[in-house]
Amino acid sequence: MNILSRRKFLRLGLAGSAASITLAGNKAVSSLLPFTPVEAEGPFYPVTPQEDKDEDLTRIKGHHTSAQGEPIYVTGQVMNHQGQPLANASVEIWQANAKGRYRHPRDPNPAPIDNHFQGWAIVTTDVQGHFRFKTIKPGAYPASAQWIRPPHIHFKISKEHYQALITQMYFPDEALNEADLLLQHKKPSERSFMIAKRGALLNAIEVFEFPIVLRTTI
Ligand SMILES: [Fe+2]
Repeated sequence: MNILSRRKFLRLGLAGSAASITLAGNKAVSSLLPFTPVEAEGPFYPVTPQEDKDEDLTRIKGHHTSAQGEPIYVTGQVMNHQGQPLANASVEIWQANAKGRYRHPRDPNPAPIDNHFQGWAIVTTDVQGHFRFKTIKPGAYPASAQWIRPPHIHFKISKEHYQALITQMYFPDEALNEADLLLQHKKPSERSFMIAKRGALLNAIEVFEFPIVLRTTI
């Protein structure tokens, strides 16, 4: 594991499970990064083609108005089990707008669509496996009469020779996380992985960090 990503994992509080190699006598003992937990794709994967799927979801090309809501950055690094960065991985996200509404024809939520919110984006990781989106903090929305989904962002990640991953990123300090039927179904270690960590502010905007660890196909 390179020093940068190990530092990042230490900061993200995943040090106990971060990849490391220690020497016990002459024997190397290695521990590996935990894999990002899989989560349901959900019913609102985008079905309507759209031209603008760039990394800034707060602005749609050709619109002179920005999306409503609190702008945030979502950043991360895609790595393998050994902590090596994966360049050229495809990272796709889709999410509800600030009022909890997807731009999806079957979303039953009566909350308004924001015509200036992109809602869907696909980027490719850089040579160090990093990605970054500028988006809006999604709103909570009702999944049923008894279940309010906490704010979350759906992720789909793919990279040649690695298993495609679908998961969801949650936000820290959200009371609704404690009652979410999907998140609470996970083991505590998986939950802590799926809840993003706050990073240092960037351009006075909140940053949420979400590392991703993929499984190889072999
Ligand atoms: Fe969702």
